[in-house]
Amino acid sequence: MNFDTRPCPRLLFGPGRLAELPECVRALGASKPLIITDPGIVAAGHVERAATLLGNAGLRPDVFEESQVNPTESDVAECRDFAARVRPDLIIGLGGGSSLDTAKGCNFLLSHPDKRMSDFHGYGHATAPMLPFIAVPTTAGTGSECQSYTVLARDGTHEKMACGDPKALARIALLDPELTASQPEFVATLAALDALSHAIESAVSTKHNPVSSAYSRQAFKLLSDSIESLLTGTPSDCDRAQLLLGAAMAGSAIENSMLGAAHATANPLTARYNLPHGLAVWTMLPHVVRFNMGCRDAAAKYGDLSHHLGQSLPDWIDHVLALANLPPAEVPPDVIPQLVADAFGQWTGRFNPRPLTPEVLTSLYESALTAPVS
Ligand SMILES: [Fe+2]
Repeated sequence: MNFDTRPCPRLLFGPGRLAELPECVRALGASKPLIITDPGIVAAGHVERAATLLGNAGLRPDVFEESQVNPTESDVAECRDFAARVRPDLIIGLGGGSSLDTAKGCNFLLSHPDKRMSDFHGYGHATAPMLPFIAVPTTAGTGSECQSYTVLARDGTHEKMACGDPKALARIALLDPELTASQPEFVATLAALDALSHAIESAVSTKHNPVSSAYSRQAFKLLSDSIESLLTGTPSDCDRAQLLLGAAMAGSAIENSMLGAAHATANPLTARYNLPHGLAVWTMLPHVVRFNMGCRDAAAKYGDLSHHLGQSLPDWIDHVLALANLPPAEVPPDVIPQLVADAFGQWTGRFNPRPLTPEVLTSLYESALTAPVS
């Protein structure tokens, strides 16, 4: 066995800990933070609260509130232009995965004025020091707060592009479950489903190792224990806290392992048909898990994850899907050849436990788009 681990940010976890944001900024030697967020987070009141906390502590925050859903290279360049004008000494990403990814992307561009995001495609291409970054997630979903990658859409094609570097990892992830109470119900559902898919896919990736497996297992336990109450509309404060921590730990699982076929096949559905990420992933996940059961190691890992559930992982996934009552993916089956071509080029698919040939991808899309699991 060969593996190499990557660090986790310092985690500050607990209800009400947003109040410690000023101390976090000072601990990193900064005094002029830039908050990168989106209008929904402004409307929820979180930005004003964070800015007031910082201002009361004698810090001078600026706010960029125009982060876009599924941010593109241009969206990040716009954020960089704003940051270049206000010249922060620290970046705070406050919001869901899109705000955190915009913040990370901005940090890449701000630190490398002569480069474009595509120059960082892949891992480890940052050559200059980057600003310290604090991630404050308001959704329990992507786990971006624990990852050194930003996932952006290419201008024009909207193809997903992952840009990572150890310097882009948050120094601190401030996990305050009270911030997640403002999520719209559908957003919270898709975010939690995405986090669950991260625990499941990272557990069986060809890059899994004892460290990533520990993160995957713990993330899956936290998420599976609490998601049903979210899907039935009655999450307690404890459930919200478990979902937020589970999503962050699933982010660390990805950081130390990889994803697989559900994300490789979902990304083209988002790029071409604008399906929300969580919906796209769960359109594919039941079919991918059943396909991967044909690999003995993956089947054992799925069994390891699900032993406390009292049913097999594929059956439990069907149960969760029934509770989630997601809208069907509106994608005509005749575009499957194009989707297969797109998915075949997805880097993340290379880490699926069973190889993804065009024939396999065709079969996965056919089963997902012509006979969706209900
Ligand atoms: Fe995801």
